[in-house]
Amino acid sequence: MMMTIDPVRWGFAAALVLAWAGLCAAMLRRPRQAPQAEGADWLVVHASQTGNAEYLAQQTAATLAASGLSARLLSIADLDAARLEGATRVLFVASTYGEGDSPDAAARFAGVTMAGECDMAQLHYGVLALGDSSYHHYCGFGRALDAWLRARGATPLFERIDVDRGNCDAIAAWQHQLSHLAGTSDLPDWEAPAYGAWRILARSLLNPGSAGAPLYRIVLIPADGPLPPWQAGDLVQVSAPGDPDLPREYSIASVASEGRIELLVRLQRHADGSLGAASGWLCMGATGHDTVALRIRAHARFRLGENAARPLILIGNGTGLAGLRAHLKARIDAGVFQNWLVFGERNAKADFLLREELGAWAGARKLARLDAVFSRDTAETRYVQHLLREQALEVRSWVKRGAAIYVCGSLQGMATGVHEALGGILGVDALDALAAEGRYRRDVY
Ligand SMILES: Cc1cc2nc3c(=O)[nH]c(=O)nc-3n(C[C@H](O)[C@H](O)[C@H](O)COP(=O)(O)OP(=O)(O)OC[C@H]3O[C@@H](n4cnc5c(N)ncnc54)[C@H](O)[C@@H]3O)c2cc1C
Ligand SMILES: Cc1cc2nc3c(=O)[nH]c(=O)nc-3n(C[C@H](O)[C@H](O)[C@H](O)COP(=O)(O)O)c2cc1C
Repeated sequence: MMMTIDPVRWGFAAALVLAWAGLCAAMLRRPRQAPQAEGADWLVVHASQTGNAEYLAQQTAATLAASGLSARLLSIADLDAARLEGATRVLFVASTYGEGDSPDAAARFAGVTMAGECDMAQLHYGVLALGDSSYHHYCGFGRALDAWLRARGATPLFERIDVDRGNCDAIAAWQHQLSHLAGTSDLPDWEAPAYGAWRILARSLLNPGSAGAPLYRIVLIPADGPLPPWQAGDLVQVSAPGDPDLPREYSIASVASEGRIELLVRLQRHADGSLGAASGWLCMGATGHDTVALRIRAHARFRLGENAARPLILIGNGTGLAGLRAHLKARIDAGVFQNWLVFGERNAKADFLLREELGAWAGARKLARLDAVFSRDTAETRYVQHLLREQALEVRSWVKRGAAIYVCGSLQGMATGVHEALGGILGVDALDALAAEGRYRRDVY
């Protein structure tokens, strides 16, 4: 029998042998501790709105790394069913927003991935759920995530840990579980960032005669030492003497080059007439001689980031103007003038905050569009979401040109109404996609 040598078939066979040998060599080189598709021992996933969960996830990943394990940090915005199905060990740090809802970054995960099919029999996981027990749906998203993982066949490494307003004992319990996973009892403690001592340089009432609660502009400088850095979009936490363990957050209204931190603070008054612990201290209690315990908190998801060169639609009400003003100032200083501000309050006469500055920017065309909506100046109540609906074509056209949307201010009424209006104007899926892309960002409370 004659044998013919077919060079194409021989070449193909040789290539197969080489590929197989390469694969075997690669498998032998692979560390035994890294069986997941991600190439790390652990995935640490954060679902965070204002950064607390993200900060704890970073600490978690750093702790695992310090004990010799590899950990990959991931936003839940970048997690989908395929990625989960390829994972074997995942730690979730998840906060809850709205009324038991997921943070914005988790909108697509909660709406699409959690609604779809997913087999996670291979997955071992832990959940650290951040929340506030004064809300009806305490740790709602963390609980929903935990229940969903179990229902899809994943195995909890330990019971979900719920953290009520940053409770230290709950965080210590999570660290304890981490030390088990890392196989060491020798992990360093986590320390919360320290407060600095600040002084109130100036305080002015911005809405005399308002039908609403007084709203103050508070100007602060470090009591001594240099001004720490921050970016537009960031927050401060203030520890009030009457309630030092529960810091309150305020959006920074100024940019670092202005040499001071400015806040817009609404004075809260309780039913019994007493003042809010932090707003009372900032607006009335603290004198220029007192020190204010304050720390700056990066709010990565509300910074300009990759949106720096995009047109910006900025939407807010009341004290929400703080976060929007910082962005406007940063953009104008950088020479970017494609800014559309939609601001809502009650009456133009008393509540048009920062009217002169905004008017000057609009006059100089540094603000491409300024729409102020006053709910009590018209026969029919009209809010920012009504204006957006009326301007639907314009909103679509800005988004089509690549605009990002920033919302700052109250969640109830304003941000929920704006979210619905934007969903109607752009489509719910498109809005979710903008959120996942980082083109729809919110600092709402
Ligand atoms: C991301 C973010 C940004 C914010 N930005 C601003 C801003 O720019 N400007 C602004 O004015 N506000 C802002 N706020 C709201 C602000 O943080 C405070 O909630 C507000 O000033 C009221 O705080 P207070 O201490 O004066 O009032 P308080 O009434 O003393 O506290 C407000 C709430 O805290 C809870 N609380 C009060 N005392 C206790 C207690 N002893 N134990 C447990 N819970 C208690 C209650 O639920 C109460 O309703 C922001 C909030 C968030 C989350
Ligand atoms: C506007 C708003 C709504 C919130 N809604 C809830 C809620 O429904 N349930 C809950 O347990 N916690 C709720 N919280 C508390 C947050 O989950 C908690 O502050 C958490 O630490 C925030 O973490 P993050 O910075 O990672 O987003 C809410 C907080 C804010 C400011």
